[in-house]
Amino acid sequence: MSEIPVARTIAELRAHVRAWHQAGQTVALVPTMGALHRGHLALVEEGLRRADQVAASIFVNPKQFAPTEDFDAYPRREADDLAKLKSAGAALAFVPGGGEMYAAGFATAIAVGGPATQGLEDRFRPHFFGGVATVVAKLLIQSQCDIALFGEKDYQQLLVVKQMVRDLDLPCRIIGCPTVREADGLALSSRNAYLTAEERRIAPMLHQQLQAVAGALRAGKAPGEAIEAAISVLITAGFSVDYLELRDAETLAPEPDPGRGSRLLVAARLGKTRLIDNIAVY
Ligand code: PAF
Repeated sequence: MSEIPVARTIAELRAHVRAWHQAGQTVALVPTMGALHRGHLALVEEGLRRADQVAASIFVNPKQFAPTEDFDAYPRREADDLAKLKSAGAALAFVPGGGEMYAAGFATAIAVGGPATQGLEDRFRPHFFGGVATVVAKLLIQSQCDIALFGEKDYQQLLVVKQMVRDLDLPCRIIGCPTVREADGLALSSRNAYLTAEERRIAPMLHQQLQAVAGALRAGKAPGEAIEAAISVLITAGFSVDYLELRDAETLAPEPDPGRGSRLLVAARLGKTRLIDNIAVY
């Protein structure tokens, strides 16, 4: 099987996309940081259902990591990722180096608000959404894609990207795709690789407790009581819980609007690994 074409510069990426557009084809982008799993490949597959060509980017974005976080340790497996993208049907991988993405003297950033400042991930990772918005805006502009696909596992990130695209009039449609899970419910994440065998055994409890809270809410229990019970189960199991909250599904405001649906979101640490997950309630 021949290898997937790899663009390492913006000029190479644009040449591919220009040729597709000139041939009347639509283009989907799947932005990733590599260490690809079935969740990423599901985005590629959905991209192929919605567009003629799918390009995936692989770039571990330094601007979304705090100095204390795992930028250096973040798994990097380019050869494996390229083979996976090829077999999922992607037509191109965009793999820019750090200097191609952020040229010397780079000094611009996107300031985010709305869903980015609702006291969830932003409370624990204040630098995160500014870094994500900056790199995603660059990727959308660099690729000139028609659509871009993001997983709902990073639900706040998905809303932040949608808000940014609306606010900046970027000519690209953002598609959110359902979280892909292991058979035991654990949401797929590149960071699951950090879990020890014992932590991996415990990790599915995060999703189980989200489901327990959602079930209790649907049965008419008060959110505060149901959430407190779940947090206490998680702490007993060994998690350190950053937040477990019921939020408006569109704005992430603390008081869900019944007309817009609500979402339960959780972040918790298990040993050295920080896991996030979320599910729809109504
Ligand atoms: O979700 C991710 O993998 C990253 O935050 C993204 C969207 C590729 C931006 O670096």
